[in-house]
Amino acid sequence: MFKRFRRLRAKAAVRELVQETRVDIRDFIYPLFIKEAEGAKKKIASMPGIFQMSISDALSECKELIELGIDKILLFGIPEIKDSIGSNALCEHGIIAEAVREIKKTCPDMYIITDLCFCEYTDHGHCGILDLEQSSVNNDTTLEITARQALIHAKAGADMIAPSGMMDGMIETIRTALDNEGFVNLPIMSYSTKFASAYYGPFRDAAESAPSFGDRRTYQMNPANRREAIAESLEDEAQGADILMVKPALAYLDIVRDIRETTHLPLCVYNVSGEYSMLKFAAAAGVVDYDKILMETMLSFKRAGADMIISYHAKEVAQLLQKRRSL
Ligand code: PBG
Ligand code: ZN
Repeated sequence: MFKRFRRLRAKAAVRELVQETRVDIRDFIYPLFIKEAEGAKKKIASMPGIFQMSISDALSECKELIELGIDKILLFGIPEIKDSIGSNALCEHGIIAEAVREIKKTCPDMYIITDLCFCEYTDHGHCGILDLEQSSVNNDTTLEITARQALIHAKAGADMIAPSGMMDGMIETIRTALDNEGFVNLPIMSYSTKFASAYYGPFRDAAESAPSFGDRRTYQMNPANRREAIAESLEDEAQGADILMVKPALAYLDIVRDIRETTHLPLCVYNVSGEYSMLKFAAAAGVVDYDKILMETMLSFKRAGADMIISYHAKEVAQLLQKRRSL
């Protein structure tokens, strides 16, 4: 006798009861691009609906987010002046430190995660200090400034630090620096498994962080490698990361599942800029039902094993969930 799966699909009510995974707005982290220059919000052509904004615009944005039920943000800073070592990121009056202090003042309920990297701050657009041949990023000198940047964020009042540079030893370095200064309770979310991906294209317009030469393949991971992807995350766990991450999300759901099954740490996925823009432009071309494909995509992250999702879609998800209760 065959099994009648359709018994539990016959009515919406029973479908809700047997649903295994749900999307919840509390799982979402919304990225913000804060620009040092004052002035109007600037549209990002490759990411419809996403803007660069000044600190004062970010304050009103945060109020709007809280009303939507989004109370976790990820901050990226775009300084006015860039140099070879990303000095703006090492200064207590740099764009991120100022933004954190201002947001905490006006929006104390907002949980602020800071992206820790140098590509937005360096004139060459790479994620650290270049080596003597100026051809790649020097791992260990970059670790030194990474520790300094972490302390700048911590002292400004960040709630969580998210290093994204893919330097070896980055988590141990940051953990030690934070602990030595008394920030023992400040969590680190590591971009632990981060691939060298073409899906970051639109982000580099948004964050003005495209490398001026070469690419990031000497520090970010080869998309072909599964074993190494797991090892990278396990290593960051061993170094003291509190939360792990897979980035990008959609093309790497197998890796999300693999890491979910090899660690007990919470796991984040970064639904990156290229994934966002693909949906936006497909919808604009009229080829997909945007709301449905959006929620199906978010659900796929949860089903693969992600606990939390960094997404430019978070505000839209909030609005859809208000209408539909859940998906
Ligand atoms: C910086 C950083 C990048 C992203 C997040 N942090 C870009 C990169 O590595 O080039 C990508 C995010 C996105 O595409 O949405 N290291
Ligand atoms: Zn970077």
